[in-house]
Amino acid sequence: MVIILGLRIKFVSIRWKLVSTYLLLIILTLLLIHTFISESIRINYVNEKKVHLLSQGNIIADRVANHNKNSNDMDALLKGYSKEIKSRIMIVNKKGIVLNDAYDVLKGMKINHWEIQESLKGKSIAREHQLKGYGKTLYVTVPIVLNNKVYGAIFISSSLEKVYGNVNKIMRNYLLLAILCIVITGFISFIFAHVIATPIEKLTEGIKKMHQGKLEQKVEIIGNDELTNLAQAFNTMSTKLFQVDQQRKEFVGNVSHELRTPLSAMKLLSESLIYEENVPIKTYREFLKDIASEVDRLDKIIQSLLALVDIDKGKLELNYEVTYVNYLLEKLIHSLKPIAVQKKISMNFVYSEKIQIGLDRVKIQQALTNIIHNAIKYTPEGGIVEVFLYSENGAAVVEIKDNGIGIPKESLPYIYERFYRVDKARSRSTGGTGLGLSISKQIIELHQGEVEVISEVGKGTTFYVRLPKNMNVYS
Ligand SMILES: Nc1ncnc2c1ncn2[C@@H]1O[C@H](COP(=O)(O)OP(=O)(O)O)[C@@H](O)[C@H]1O
Ligand SMILES: [Mg+2]
Repeated sequence: MVIILGLRIKFVSIRWKLVSTYLLLIILTLLLIHTFISESIRINYVNEKKVHLLSQGNIIADRVANHNKNSNDMDALLKGYSKEIKSRIMIVNKKGIVLNDAYDVLKGMKINHWEIQESLKGKSIAREHQLKGYGKTLYVTVPIVLNNKVYGAIFISSSLEKVYGNVNKIMRNYLLLAILCIVITGFISFIFAHVIATPIEKLTEGIKKMHQGKLEQKVEIIGNDELTNLAQAFNTMSTKLFQVDQQRKEFVGNVSHELRTPLSAMKLLSESLIYEENVPIKTYREFLKDIASEVDRLDKIIQSLLALVDIDKGKLELNYEVTYVNYLLEKLIHSLKPIAVQKKISMNFVYSEKIQIGLDRVKIQQALTNIIHNAIKYTPEGGIVEVFLYSENGAAVVEIKDNGIGIPKESLPYIYERFYRVDKARSRSTGGTGLGLSISKQIIELHQGEVEVISEVGKGTTFYVRLPKNMNVYS
C-alpha cells in the first residue's frame, strides 16, 4: 500500500508525467518503426530469393526439357545446381513421382505438395512454409514444358533460415539504436521536465512561505518565457502584499499611538484632580478645559480616520456634479477666513476665468480645505496666504501659496503619508493629526488629478492641485 502510494505521488508529479509521456511516445514510435522495417526487410529478402529461385527453376526446367539425357546425367546436373543455389532440387514426373533428387532420398516416391500439383497444371509457384525440424523453408516449383506440353515439374526446396537470420541481425542493430534513442529521449525529457517543474516548485514553495506569513518572497527564474513572466508577476504581487501589510501594521500602530496620546493626557489630568487635596476651582476649570481640548483632538483624529475609510469605500463611487470651481473656492475660503483673521493672516483669492468641471463636491472641498488650512496653520502671524485658479494644459489648477515656515527638503517625500508630521511637537499645538494631506492626495487622485508641492524652509510653500477638465464623469 505504502509503495503504491509512493509510486502514485511520484507519478503525479509533473516531472514524471512529462518524462513518462515522452518515453511512452518514443517507445510506441520505435515499436511501429520496428514492425514496419522488419516486415519490409523480410518481404524484400524473401521476394528476392523467390525471384532468384524461380529463374533458376526455369533454367533447370529448360535444360531438363531440352536434353534427353539419362537419369545419372540428370543426377549430376541437379547436384551441380543444388550446390550452386544451396537448395534441394528434385525432378517430378507428371504423376508426382520423384525422378531425381539432389539429396538422393526421395527418388521413386510420390509427393503430393500443392505447389507440385499447380506446376503440373503449368504454373510456377513460390511459397513459404514452416517445417518441423527445418524451420522456415521456401518451396519453388516450375513446370517442365516442351512444345506446350507439361512433362513434369522442378521442385526446389530452400531454407529461409539464413534470410531470417539476416533480418534478425539487422533488427538487433535496430534494437541497440532504439535503446540509445530511448536513453537519449529519457535524458532530454528529464532535463526538459526539470526546466518546467523547477520554477513551478519554486513558486509553490514561495506561496507556501507566504501562507506562513512570510509575505516578502522572491522567486528567481532564469529564462524568458511564460514561467518567467509568472515568476515576475508573483514577485511583484508578493512585494506589493508585503508593502500593504507593512503599511497596515504601521497604520494600526500609528492609530493606536495617536489615540492613546490624548487618552493618557486625559487620564493624567483627571487623576491629578482626583488625588490632589483641596484643588482650587480655577485649576479644576483649567484641567477640564485641557481635557475638553484632548477630547476635541480625539474627535478630530476619529473624523479623519472615518474620512479615510470613506475614501477607501469611495474608490468605487464618486458622486460627480458639474461645479464651478471658483465658487467652490470662494465659499471655502470664506469659511476659513475667521481662522486666518485670528492669526492676522491676509487671504487672497485670484481667478482669471470661471472654470466648470465635474467633481465630487464634498470630497474636493475637503481636500482643498485641508491644504488651505495647512497654509494658514504653518504660516506665522502676519503672513499671507494666496489662492489662484487658472487653466493649464486642459486642467484646472488651484495654486495655494503661503509665506510660512516651509517644509524641509528631506521631509517632502513623506508629507502625504498617513500620520506624518514634520514637527510633531509643534503640530500637536496646532492640532495636526498628520492625516490631512494623505486624505487630500487620495481624493485628488480619485479625480484623476495630481498634487505637487514646492517649498523652501523659512520662505514658504506652494501646493499645486491639478484637476482634469475633460474628465469623463459618467464613466
Ligand atoms: N503649507 C505648509 N507649510 C509648512 N508645512 C506644511 C504645510 N502643509 C503641510 N505641511 C507639513 O506637512 C505635514 C503633514 O500635513 P498634514 O497631513 O495636513 O498633517 P497635519 O495634520 O499635521 O496638518 C504637516 O504636519 C506639516 O509639517
Ligand atoms: Mg493638515
